[in-house]
Amino acid sequence: MPHFLTLAGLSATSLTELLDASAAYKRARPHAAAPWLAGKHVALVMEKASTRTRVGFEVAVRELGGHATVITTEGSQLGRGEPVEDTARVLGRFCHAVVYRTFGDERLQRMATSAAVPVINALTDREHPCQIVADLLTVREHLGTLDVRYAWIGDGNNVAVSWLHAAAVFKLTLTLACPAGYHPDPDVVADARAAGATIEVVADPVLAARGADVIMTDVWASMGQEDEARARAEAFAGYLVDDGLFLEASGRAIALHCLPAHRGEEISASVLDGPRGAAVWDQAENRMHSHKAILELALTGRAHGP
Ligand code: CP
Ligand code: NVA
Repeated sequence: MPHFLTLAGLSATSLTELLDASAAYKRARPHAAAPWLAGKHVALVMEKASTRTRVGFEVAVRELGGHATVITTEGSQLGRGEPVEDTARVLGRFCHAVVYRTFGDERLQRMATSAAVPVINALTDREHPCQIVADLLTVREHLGTLDVRYAWIGDGNNVAVSWLHAAAVFKLTLTLACPAGYHPDPDVVADARAAGATIEVVADPVLAARGADVIMTDVWASMGQEDEARARAEAFAGYLVDDGLFLEASGRAIALHCLPAHRGEEISASVLDGPRGAAVWDQAENRMHSHKAILELALTGRAHGP
């Protein structure tokens, strides 16, 4: 089953195909959108909040001719304890694919094992692969190449882990500035290095930002970590992406943020709402275009574009 659960282990060729198909869907919108999903149904199972991923997939499915049905924990029997395996078996009888946002990665694996249709990872505590397809597309659009210097400032979280997977695929140069206790999974860092990526994990955001072409950040407390918000705010003080940090970066440097953002915490309003942050809104839009390519890859085994 060609699930789309992770970027880990993807070849550079297939990830490039995915980016090319995403760009082609973007260029073609809306007139040439191929309705290859006509007559097909996609379940969007959201166990956490979502704006971009949920609406991006709903619009993508719709524009490809298919139909999307959203279910949430509270609005379904998941909220009353129905096992993910039983949910998966039933959704697989109704639908042609399942897009799943959940907590532990093991729930995603259980969905993928039991659904009998392709499953797409719409974010877990561990990874957010769909996000990084859009991020890479945005870098390519703004800087013309992926072969640039990347800085990640803040939490070594799910988005950072998927960035490390992408760095491994394309042998990228990525420096992460994270406080002690919030580093990304060391095995993921080691795997990226072994694959040929140049990865540094440092404490000082200035070191990471120096000469960077892309400065990325994310919330300090991810969904499910609300109880840790106070401790995290203390740990991440000094990890604000602001104009001062951009003085260290290359002249063409852009900011990326997967959103939602907290202005004045991980990113300043002047960066997010200024010229450096302009890419963030393209990044958000690119979620929808790249969702079409991801659906095509998962449902047909190849992403060709329209
Ligand atoms: N970036 C992202 O995944 O946004 P949502 O949580 O709104 O889907
Ligand atoms: N790291 C964030 C990403 C949100 C899109 C979270 O998991 O909440």
